[in-house]
Amino acid sequence: MRIEGDAGKRAVRAAVDAGYTLFDHADIYGGGTCETLFGEVLRESPGLREKILLQSKCVVRFADDSSPARYDSSREHIISSVNGSLARLGVEQLDLFLVHRPDYLMNAEEVAVAFDTLKSSGKVARFGVSNFSTSQFDLLQSALPDPLLVNQVEINLHNIDALNNGVLDQCQRLGITPQAWCPIAGVAYPAWGNTFTDEDTARIRAELEIQSEKYNTEDWLIAVAWLLKHPAGISPIIGSTTPDRIRAAVTALDIDYSREDWYRLLEARNGVSVP
Ligand SMILES: NC(=O)c1ccc[n+]([C@@H]2O[C@H](COP(=O)([O-])OP(=O)(O)OC[C@H]3O[C@@H](n4cnc5c(N)ncnc54)[C@H](OP(=O)(O)O)[C@@H]3O)[C@@H](O)[C@H]2O)c1
Repeated sequence: MRIEGDAGKRAVRAAVDAGYTLFDHADIYGGGTCETLFGEVLRESPGLREKILLQSKCVVRFADDSSPARYDSSREHIISSVNGSLARLGVEQLDLFLVHRPDYLMNAEEVAVAFDTLKSSGKVARFGVSNFSTSQFDLLQSALPDPLLVNQVEINLHNIDALNNGVLDQCQRLGITPQAWCPIAGVAYPAWGNTFTDEDTARIRAELEIQSEKYNTEDWLIAVAWLLKHPAGISPIIGSTTPDRIRAAVTALDIDYSREDWYRLLEARNGVSVP
């Protein structure tokens, strides 16, 4: 969730009241302002820290005068980034820390040393990754004593790579939680690198309309239910900052979504039925 000013604080409070328990951050979100604002909410809400899970990430570094945009999974960068997140959030510990992107120059042993330092100092409880392929996941896992708990990847009606590239299979096999970023892209707004034609969009919209009526809900909540149906236990990261939408998203959990409608929506997305 991106948070800005008072609207951001209202969004966080709406999420807490609606029962959300995990809040996803990264050192780069809002250039650090998202974590700072969240830290203010924590300070203004005694007891809140103990009720929620705080997750943050790093390795993405933006270009500046002397350096190109890059990923940095060096021990120094991971540790200093986590220290920055803790300071901005005003907390002693992150419940989860994720490697935000697979660094082409990732040395798994070095990341393991960083994780060990963070765990033994109590600054991070558990670890995970984001946007990792199955082999990148295996590589990092092979250097770690504890299981990685999360792989946060883009999964939505437009980007179904995780259904086919083994990520969801790996999650299911190892009991890793797949977190879905941009879960309603392609439905509520065009996805990154949108490849849907007008014809695709019309077909998907028509099916979503039928299903929204059938389940007495809204099209974007069908898109969330479609993710929730997957047996790997996808956890959609809801990015809305609108309190009504934040509350509404929870109702997707109550949709008794059928296998048949899951495949109908896949068929509408693909424009062809499964073989
Ligand atoms: N690991 C990664 O590489 C990565 C990459 C991207 C994102 N993320 C994480 O994933 C989270 C979720 O991604 P996201 O923010 O793109 O999530 P999202 O939930 O797919 O999209 C949220 C956006 O959709 C809008 N929206 C929600 N419902 C809508 C509706 N019914 N109609 C029209 N617009 C609607 C929201 O606007 P309002 O705010 O106005 O409601 C907001 O701008 C992020 O906040 C971030 O924490 C991670």
